Order: sequence, then C-alpha cells, then structure tokens
Amino acid sequence: MAEFRLPANSRIREGNTHRAPGAESSNNLRRIRVYRYDPEGGANPRMDTFEIDADQAGPMILDALIAIKDQIDPTLTFRRSCREGICGSCAMNIDGTNTLACTKGLDEVKGDINVSPLPHMDVIKDLVPDLNHFYAQYASIEPWIKTQTPTPPDHERLQSKEERERLDGLYECILCACCSTSCPSYWWNGDRYLGPAALLQAYRWIADSRDEATGERLDELNDSYKLYRCHTIMNCTATCPKGLNPGKAIGEIKRLIAEREV
Ligand code: SF4
Ligand code: F3S
Ligand code: FES
Repeated sequence: MAEFRLPANSRIREGNTHRAPGAESSNNLRRIRVYRYDPEGGANPRMDTFEIDADQAGPMILDALIAIKDQIDPTLTFRRSCREGICGSCAMNIDGTNTLACTKGLDEVKGDINVSPLPHMDVIKDLVPDLNHFYAQYASIEPWIKTQTPTPPDHERLQSKEERERLDGLYECILCACCSTSCPSYWWNGDRYLGPAALLQAYRWIADSRDEATGERLDELNDSYKLYRCHTIMNCTATCPKGLNPGKAIGEIKRLIAEREV
C-alpha cells in the first residue's frame, strides 16, 4: 500500500469551489468543505468547497456527500454501507469531531461544514483511511470465544441474565475507529499501542462468562505498550458515536491485571 500513502510532509491547500446544478435558487444552501487527496495525481491534498441544496440532498452529512458525488464530482471517494449507524464504514472527522456521517445531521453543524478523513491515519484517497493496521490489531486480541471444557452435548453454553448484562456497552461496538483515531496516545504510538477500540473489544471477551481464556488474555495485554499507553485521556469515550465507554473498559482490564498480581 505504500505507494498510496499521503506524503508525511504534505500541506493542505485551498481547492476549488463547485455548486450543484440548480442550487443557486435554494433556500437552504450549505457549503461543505471536503478534504481531497488523489494518490494518482501526486499533488498535495486540498480542501474543495461544494455548495448544495440541503433540502434536496437529505438530512445527514452522508446524504450531502452522496449528493456531491451524484451531482458535482463523481470522483469524490468515501466509504459507506448501511446508512444507519451499524456498519461503521462512514466514520470521518466532521467539524473537528470523529463521528459517523450517516448519523450526523447537517443541521447539527452551523456555517461551513468541514469534512476530513479520520485523523492521523494514512489516507488512501479523499475520505478513505487505511484501516489495515487497525483491523490487524483487532485480530490480535483473538475476538472469539475460547474454551477448554467440552461443549455441552444437549444445549449451548448458557449465561445467566446477569452474565449476559455484563456485555452491554461492549457488544454494540461497530469498529468504526472513531475512538482510536481521537486518542493522542494512539496517534503517537499506534504501531504498538492497541488503542481504545481493540481494547474495548478485548474486554468484551474477557467479560464473557463463557470464555475460558481470561488469564491468557490478560497476560497478553499486560504490556507497557499494548495497554499501558492509555493515559486516561478519555477522548475515546467523548467521541464514540455509539455512546460506548472504551476508557472505562480499559480501566477494567487494568484493574483485573492488578488484582491478579496481588
Ligand atoms: Fe467506534 Fe465506539 Fe467501537 Fe470505538 S468503541 S470503534 S468509537 S463504536
Ligand atoms: Fe486514549 Fe481513551 Fe486512554 S483517549 S489515552 S484510550 S482513555
Ligand atoms: Fe454504516 Fe454510516 S454507513 S455506519
């Protein structure tokens, strides 16, 4: 992927302004400034400005991006799938906050709307960050149930209501990467620090009463980089578009490791 990566010394320049056909008569004209980077052109990134009729586009930032791509510039590149906040693919930085374009309303942002890729990630094109390393870190926490005891012959591995409730606030994570890319520790040490998303997912399996590899999982995380680069900055929790609390999950992992070492 190296040839697609944004040069480290690149500077963002002011780009072009484009207006959607017919938008000049709109009573709800919105200006959306979008980060553009084309790896094939070799030029530094730029911020293009698009003016659209928000009444025609639809209510969400994702609707506006789709309208821009449809009506003005088909080369605009971004990820999206579900358009209802469950796939995590439309995560980007909107007006300074990492969030989901499909659940962020145009009317939640006053004035010009600035849209850029998730911060401190390599950019593949426009609003598409390279998430390969992020996904590899997720895979490294082995996100599946690990057992030693034989599977019960006549029923599933059961949980009490209380045991199941311990997974609330964890299983809802959609791996959008908003939290990890808001974390200064992850910005500077993302090569070795797992970051809040992978650590929340790690805790999701540690907290699962059916999993029988808790000690092994905690041993694996007990590392000055993988876990302890979290300095409780809490940007992760503040930005999570699903209202989850990765900072708390990381604190729980640290507590369990400390209790084990007593
Ligand atoms: Fe996204 Fe929240 Fe999961 Fe982080 S914890 S990856 S912000 S859903
Ligand atoms: Fe980062 Fe969240 Fe810890 S912002 S430092 S992972 S509490
Ligand atoms: Fe799926 Fe936004 S398109 S979360």
